[in-house]
Amino acid sequence: MHLNRHKELATNLSVQLAPKHKSGLLLANPVMTASGTFGYGTEYSHLFDIQRLGAIVCKGTTLEPREGNPQPRLAETACGVLNSIGMQNIGADALVKEKAPIWAGWRVPVIVNIAGEAVDDYAQLASKLDGVAGISAIEVNIGCPNLKAGGIEFGSEPGLAAEVTAAVKRATSLPVLVKLTPHTSDIAGTAVSVAEAGADAISAINTIKGIAIDITRRRPLLGNITGGLSGPAIKPVALWMVYEVAGAVEIPVIGCGGIVAASDAIEFIMAGASAIQVGTAGFTNPRAHLDVLEGIEQFMKKEGIEDIAELIGAAR
Ligand SMILES: Cc1cc2nc3c(=O)[nH]c(=O)nc-3n(C[C@H](O)[C@H](O)[C@H](O)COP(=O)(O)O)c2cc1C
Repeated sequence: MHLNRHKELATNLSVQLAPKHKSGLLLANPVMTASGTFGYGTEYSHLFDIQRLGAIVCKGTTLEPREGNPQPRLAETACGVLNSIGMQNIGADALVKEKAPIWAGWRVPVIVNIAGEAVDDYAQLASKLDGVAGISAIEVNIGCPNLKAGGIEFGSEPGLAAEVTAAVKRATSLPVLVKLTPHTSDIAGTAVSVAEAGADAISAINTIKGIAIDITRRRPLLGNITGGLSGPAIKPVALWMVYEVAGAVEIPVIGCGGIVAASDAIEFIMAGASAIQVGTAGFTNPRAHLDVLEGIEQFMKKEGIEDIAELIGAAR
């Protein structure tokens, strides 16, 4: 009998994002959507097989429905986009009633991104989402202004970031991902505080604040004056922050910021990210997420890598 010694290499792309959590958060592959850029997932299911993704992160959700900021809310910049959506969303109750039942029938895990103006908002949101079929984890956006502290972002101050994390952990049995804001002088210190407060994983980074001015009107271009910068323009900053965070904590890190192609994603993974999120790239290439996924797989085959774990932190 002739044995075929050149059998096809099996590639394992699966990643565990909540290894310390009792039920865990196992993804079939490391490619996720970035919050606010993929709606509730349902809007994109006709474009491609979204079940092939590692996870879907839905848009930022608040306790009450929100109309969002005045128009215009989007401005194109060199290699990026400024947005000031202002958390337009249907609110937690409608999400639980209308969206979660759809997600419950999906194979791909859905993670709900939450936003608040006070620590208690986050805790209330986390308890509303706890035990709801169709919701696999919570991602906490700590890049929101804390109204009680004069509008400083929760994530700009390690103590506040830890307070929000602990409050969410107490209120839910779901895995908790904490999404860091780049608006801090010590991203590694914030990551350590959040990890010590019980976060199961860290996502990094959210958008970077900026403005654009319409010179004919002599006015800021965005209705809200400031917006958050995303896209390739922020990639080197995001990559550095992920590198810093992955070097400071033991829990998994999810890289985000300017990922357009598989090579960008692999850079984040080599910097120490266990998974990655694709956001702005999907606005110009609706197939961006799958291109990234297929590109990672091709890279692994080409390099003879059987398990994605071999790539995580490989550049450190
Ligand atoms: C239009 C838009 C809306 C966003 N909304 C949210 C949100 O609701 N919650 C959140 O945590 N991040 C939000 N983000 C930030 C993204 O999830 C991501 O962190 C950021 O855009 C960087 O990734 P990218 O360069 O791949 O887009 C939003 C980004 C954009 C462009």
